[in-house]
Amino acid sequence: MIDCKGDVLVWGPMHPSLMRSLEERYRIHKRWEIADLAHWASQQGDAIRAVVTSGVYGADNATLGLLPNLEVITSFGVGYDALDTAYLANRGVQLSNTPDVLNDSVAETALALMLCVSRRISEAERFVRAGKWQQEKFPQGNGLHGKTCGIVGLGKIGKTIARLVSAFDMNIAYYRPNGPYADVPYTHYADLQALATAADYLVIVVPGGQATRRLIDRQVMRALGPNAYLINVARGSVVDESALVASLLEGEIGGAALDVFEDEPHVPAELLEMDNVVLLPHIGSGTHETRQAMADLVFENLDAWFENETLVTPVVL
Ligand code: 8YV
Repeated sequence: MIDCKGDVLVWGPMHPSLMRSLEERYRIHKRWEIADLAHWASQQGDAIRAVVTSGVYGADNATLGLLPNLEVITSFGVGYDALDTAYLANRGVQLSNTPDVLNDSVAETALALMLCVSRRISEAERFVRAGKWQQEKFPQGNGLHGKTCGIVGLGKIGKTIARLVSAFDMNIAYYRPNGPYADVPYTHYADLQALATAADYLVIVVPGGQATRRLIDRQVMRALGPNAYLINVARGSVVDESALVASLLEGEIGGAALDVFEDEPHVPAELLEMDNVVLLPHIGSGTHETRQAMADLVFENLDAWFENETLVTPVVL
């Protein structure tokens, strides 16, 4: 180890290059290899100044409570709903995430899901692989151009999605309860049901957490209607998953394309049986380039903290 900067608790296996950098510069403690946390904490807990985790791993307050000198958490991912920000603020623990670097990749995933579910791409491929093409014709799908893309969460990723779908000649609308943005040309809805009624594709890209928990409920799905699709690249918690299953079983919506689930990596068994559903294993940001940029940003944040107690991309708690 060259010039060890301090002790860091790493929550779970991270991007390989991030693991390498951490191992080179810090004394790292791998939480997933610690069998007896309380015993470990009694020996090492005082030394830990930083935790490295991800949006998926999060960190529980009980474990963080074993680290009295914790100063900072650097998290891999833009979403940090798996962390209790009120608890962190109360303890004065700083937090960084990885915004911006993943906007394009997550937007591309949303677009891929829209095309995949509407043109029945996964289903069509299963059809070819099963040797059915020789016996029957594959049914038609729905197009994107001229349709309405309703975006729930017109933040940086939402705006990137809007930019991409405008190249497909879609009408763009968005939901924002507290009024329209002054600087965007898209159609504003303060009412979610009204947006769902207008949308052919309802794209969910709002942050997870208590404020958006089960925002997309049965009523929203009924408003969306049998010829429209639900696309979720945000968090599983934003959609009432059992209501979604019920809506799909009843034919209340045309289909769903999901990158995220309520209880990952578990996917409701009913969804696995449905052809009008596309299911991805949370790969929204999962390109080599983007994951590398995210890994680099996590490390830059950690280094900035150990060097001068600043963060490159702090979360305001
Ligand atoms: C990551 C994400 O896959 O950025 C986010 O919030 O959900 C994804 O980019 C996730 O954070 C963890 O690995």
